[in-house]
Amino acid sequence: MKIKSAIFVKGITGENEILNDGKTQIAFIGRSNAGKSSLINSITGDGKLAKTSSNPGKTQELNIFLINKSVYFVDLPGYGFAKTGAEVWQRINKLVYWYLFESTHNPKVVLIIDAEVGPTKDDLGILKLMELRGKDIIIVANKIDKIKKSHCFNQIKKLQEQFTGHVVIPFSSKDKIGINELVETLII
Ligand code: GTP
Ligand code: MG
Repeated sequence: MKIKSAIFVKGITGENEILNDGKTQIAFIGRSNAGKSSLINSITGDGKLAKTSSNPGKTQELNIFLINKSVYFVDLPGYGFAKTGAEVWQRINKLVYWYLFESTHNPKVVLIIDAEVGPTKDDLGILKLMELRGKDIIIVANKIDKIKKSHCFNQIKKLQEQFTGHVVIPFSSKDKIGINELVETLII
């Protein structure tokens, strides 16, 4: 299906009535700077919808976007980076953990990793928790434009082996790769 409309609804920092209105929630998660907000912009075709930055820590709330008037995309803050500004990062990590694992909202989950760097310890930790809960998770291997063409095939193969049992979608917001495949996988 196609994404026909996408609007920003609000940013929240905890429990909120919007999360209880019955619409499917699709959460975009990953370490800070992985490209979650950019990905939302590229799949909705609206480059200004979600705020992005080259500095980690741009998204600090659960930012909710209404897609096709029927589904919520939830742009999460990135986890990790605990060494700098510990207080902010503690709050962010707590919020992400609460939404994914402690709240009752049970979103569908898209995990965005940097295809060049591969999964971080935090990515694998989150994945493990998802698997223990029997949750399906779609992996997006983002920024494949950064990988040399000659290494691309092997790198994607390696990632697919690391994430056996999950769909891995090679992706680039910059070069507009993988957009249709991801949207179709989300089935909106
Ligand atoms: P936080 O909100 O801090 O968690 O970050 P985020 O995961 O939302 O990342 P964001 O979308 O803000 O992008 C971080 C940086 O990565 C920006 O400088 C983007 O331009 C860059 N970026 C995002 N997607 C791609 C991509 O596909 N390729 C390349 N080369 N850079 C990208
Ligand atoms: Mg962001």
